[in-house]
Order: sequence, then C-alpha cells, then structure tokens
Amino acid sequence: MADVAPACTIAIFGAVGDLTKTLLMPAIFDLAAGGLLDPQTKIVGLDHNDRDDASWRKAMDDALHAFLEKQGDRSKKNGDDEQAFTFVLDRLHYRKFDFTNDDDYASYAKELGDAGNVVFYLAVAPRFFEAIVAGLDHAGLLKEKDGTFRRVVIEKPFGSDLDSAKALNAKLTSLANETQLYRIDHFLGKEAVQGISALRFANALFEPVFNRDHIASVQITAAETVGVEHRGSFYEGLGALRDMVPNHLFSLLTLVAMERPDTFEAQAVRDAKTALLEAIEPIGPGDAVRGQYAAGTIAGAAAVAYRDEERVAKDSLTETYAALSVRIKNDRWRDVPFYVRTGKRMSAHVTTIALTLRDPKGPIATDPAQPDLLLLGIDPKRGLVQRFAAKRPGVELVLGRAEAGFRYETTFDEPPNVGYETLLYHVMAGNQLLFQRSDMIEAEWAAVQPVLDAWGSDGAAPDPYASGSDGPASADALLAKNGDRWLEVATLDDLGKDTA
Ligand code: BG6
Repeated sequence: MADVAPACTIAIFGAVGDLTKTLLMPAIFDLAAGGLLDPQTKIVGLDHNDRDDASWRKAMDDALHAFLEKQGDRSKKNGDDEQAFTFVLDRLHYRKFDFTNDDDYASYAKELGDAGNVVFYLAVAPRFFEAIVAGLDHAGLLKEKDGTFRRVVIEKPFGSDLDSAKALNAKLTSLANETQLYRIDHFLGKEAVQGISALRFANALFEPVFNRDHIASVQITAAETVGVEHRGSFYEGLGALRDMVPNHLFSLLTLVAMERPDTFEAQAVRDAKTALLEAIEPIGPGDAVRGQYAAGTIAGAAAVAYRDEERVAKDSLTETYAALSVRIKNDRWRDVPFYVRTGKRMSAHVTTIALTLRDPKGPIATDPAQPDLLLLGIDPKRGLVQRFAAKRPGVELVLGRAEAGFRYETTFDEPPNVGYETLLYHVMAGNQLLFQRSDMIEAEWAAVQPVLDAWGSDGAAPDPYASGSDGPASADALLAKNGDRWLEVATLDDLGKDTA
C-alpha cells in the first residue's frame, strides 16, 4: 500500500474547464477513495468564471457522478466511494481569478501565506502557461520556505515546435526550478505504459531481446475511432503530428527503446530517455505521411469528412493521421525501423506497440508472412500478447501460430485507474519519474522539426483516407520502401482477445 501523500493545497487553474471535470476531479476522488490523501488536503478552484463554493461544488459533484456512472462496477476498487465524496466535496473552495492580473496573485499569496505545500495545476490553454507561472513567481508563490514545496503541473501541448518549446522552457526555468516543474504527458500515467518498464526491466525473458539482434522492426499504433469531436477550432492549428507524436508516441517509443537505467530513480530514467530521444535521427518529409479523414463508416455508423466537421475549414490542410518511419542512431537499434502512426476515425480504437522478432534462421522453416510478435497493449484489455511458432499435433513437424499473454483486468484484482491519479500522486510525493524534463521535450520537437517545416510550407493537402479505414495508401508505401507492411489495425485489435 502506497503512503498517504503529503498534505498540500491543490490549486487548480482552469477549475471550470473540461479537463478538471473529466480527468482531474475523478483522479482526486480516486486518490481520496484509496485513502491516499492527507486529511489536511485543500482543493482550490481558480478560474475567471463567476462561481462560488456552492455552485462549483455542485458542478464537481455532477462531474463525479457522471464519472462513476461511466466507470460502472467499482466493487473491485480498493476504497470507499461514499467517504470519498464527502472528503472531496467538503474540501472544495472556489476563487474567481484573472490569470493575467497581478493583483489576483498578490491577494491569493496573502491568503496562502508562506507556509504550506501547494501544487499549482495548470489545466488551462497553453497561452496562459507563461502568464500564470510569471504571476505566481511575482507574487512570491513559488518560494519554497522551511521545507515546504511549491510545484507547478503543466499540461500539453508544451510548445508547438522546437523554437516555441525552447522559449517556453527558458521562460519557465527562469521563474521556477526544474525540480518544481511537472510537465504532463498523460500517457505516462497509464498502467500499461508503466508496465512496459516492468516487463523489460523486471523479467529475465524480455529485456535480452530488446535490440537489433532480435527485433526486426517496431510498430507503434495509436488508432482512434473518434473524430475531432468538439475540438475543431483547436485541432485545426494542431494536427495529428503535433497532437500525438512528439509527446505520447515518442514516450512509448522511449520506454521500449531506451538503454537500461542503473536505477529506477527519476534522474537515471529521465537521463536514459533523453539519451534515446537525442539519438533519433531528425525525421524529414520523405519519412513521413499525412492523411485526413474523408467520409466513411465506423461500426456501421456514417461518419462525416474532417472538412465537414464543426469549426473546420472546408479546405483545411490539417492532418488527422500521421505516420513516420523513425531511425535511432545507436548500437542497440541501428538498422531497426520504428514505425509510428496515429489517426482519428480509423477502423478500431487500439493503442499498441508491436515488436516483430527476427527469423531465428534455425533448422526448422518458419512462415515469413507470420513472424513472431510481441505485442504490448496500452489499454487495460490487453496487457501483453506473444505470438510465436508451435508444432501442430500430428506425425510431421508442421508449425502453427500460438498465442500467450496476460490481461490486466483478468490477472490482477485491482482495476486500472484513469492515469491522472498516478501522476497527481507523484507530483505530491515529489517524484518526477513520470514527467517530461525540459531536455526531453526539446529532443522530441527536434526530431520532428524537419517534417513540421516541410508540411508547414509546402501547401500540400494531406492524403485522404476513408473514415473507418487504416489510413491513407501512402502510409503503406512508406513501409514498402523497407519491404515491411503495417499490421492491420483489426489484427492488432484481435490479437490476444482469446488468450490474454
Ligand atoms: C490527447 C490528444 O492528448 O490524447 C487527443 O489531444 C487524443 O487528441 C488523446 O484523443 C488520446 O488519449 P487516450 O488516453 O484517450 O488514448
């Protein structure tokens, strides 16, 4: 059982926004239900909207009920939901706050005083990141006196390219110490993502094959069936590459590919991640494909084209799909292609890492069309699936395909959490292991900067793909150059359904 987190105030900038409702408040609730919050914990909502304690509390109460309804059966959860409601709702306090007004910071600083630990959670649009950290600094709110902590949690997107990320890092680190900055990539809070490290570094069987001698290629897929939903105007300036690749997908890639750290402390692990990210060869437009969803059908329902979505330009050039062929310049991975792809409105909702193993070239002939696979599922349904060759029963030695694996939901009693619990808990505990350091962020942007430059200036339209498909045909050509093929998204979805 984890220790109770240190007592602190959780000050949420953007208290009225979606993130607070759908992810942050449920995470606080789960931590409370699990008995991981100190009774002295305070939760303060800060936003420009007119609310008072009662109306914010009511909104959060509704949000938590909606969350519990969506969760369904929580009987396997270790904890007490009734007590958690009282715990959380009793601690909520709302403060109307203008993020750009120094007076508001000054009066909040007066109220808080010097004492006490505070986590400032920036659940706000990126344009406020700098203003809020500067406001906190000017009001002295970031001073850590007498062993107390003052920490700032920053959501993504962190910059929109290398230059803007560097400028934001420079600004933030001039106002706060790196040890106070917790840059979120919510994928790092997912059970299965942390599970990759457990798999690699706590088993004798797996880590020895994570290298060029045994792995022929790696495919990282984050396929979604949802479209751009209500985020049209935000997504138009973003696109699939910026939204998913230099953050979430590179986080997965890093965990699979980094060298083994000497310890599992934050510094050693983040050093190993930075070294890997810096070893990625800058990715040019020849190694990247962009797509945009056209109309189609998903699970029997008609889906409109991206250009027909709300608040999207009819001639939009924004990509909703991106695929990249990535090379890593080090001894472990030289000549092993890492293919990453992500898209909206694809055929199935699947997030996986598939490692294709090399043919052992032994005395028994194998089927080159069905190589051995190690599949790491980044959702609680699939944990790990291994596809391998096995002898079919019979008088002759004929090979068949076998699968073995495990599922989180059937193997362990504890249900997975939403991910933000782990992240918030680690912020309070002062463990930066699961957060992005400035050098990691900059190395991620540096790797994709050549593609961003090319796509930003060529004025070309992304390749269309039908909603409900696996992406544009050009993505197949990207792999065909190396004699490789994408695993079908439906296959990835199916693998392990029966065995794991
Ligand atoms: C977010 C992206 O960071 O991650 C979204 O902005 C995407 O576009 C989401 O849908 C995917 O996260 P998850 O946890 O739902 O797989």
